[in-house]
Amino acid sequence: IERTFIAVKPDGTQRFLIGEIIKRFETKGYKLVAIKAIVPSRTLAEKHYEDLKGRPFFNGLVKYMTSGAAPVIAMVWEGKDVIRQGRRLIGATNPLEAQPGTIRGDFCISVGRNIIHGSDSFESAEKEIGLWFGKSEVIEWEFGNAEWVTADN
Ligand code: GTP
Ligand code: MG
Repeated sequence: IERTFIAVKPDGTQRFLIGEIIKRFETKGYKLVAIKAIVPSRTLAEKHYEDLKGRPFFNGLVKYMTSGAAPVIAMVWEGKDVIRQGRRLIGATNPLEAQPGTIRGDFCISVGRNIIHGSDSFESAEKEIGLWFGKSEVIEWEFGNAEWVTADN
């Protein structure tokens, strides 16, 4: 099983897009195994985006994520190819390049307010899930109709 870390950023929460974002992952066929509303600490946000330390927008990015003007909705989604597929559902980082039909392509216009985060690799997913969630917060459960979503014959 594959898992990825997805977060609705504070602008997504302010703009009433939580339900829309959950709906896209849910109706695609993915399983929600963890979710919480959280205002991340500076330490958490800096660790989450540590690869971007030194970039000119880093401080602004951390401030945006941690302001508390609205919570981040942190989630773990599970399913076949969910890391790469999640990135496809989300679309390009810059909304100018994000295709219509993707979450960013449909709902935002600024790279600094691009409403959602998704892990970009297996290693990032492992790291981010461990940062944002304790082990007991991630729930193992099975779809009652799993065959209808996952069979490949
Ligand atoms: P995440 O899913 O949030 O990690 O986005 P990403 O993987 O598509 O892009 P990346 O990890 O490179 O950048 C992380 C976040 O930093 C982006 O989602 C943006 O919110 C922000 N960011 C990236 N590039 C820029 C930029 O050039 N200007 C500004 N203002 N923000 C940027
Ligand atoms: Mg990224």
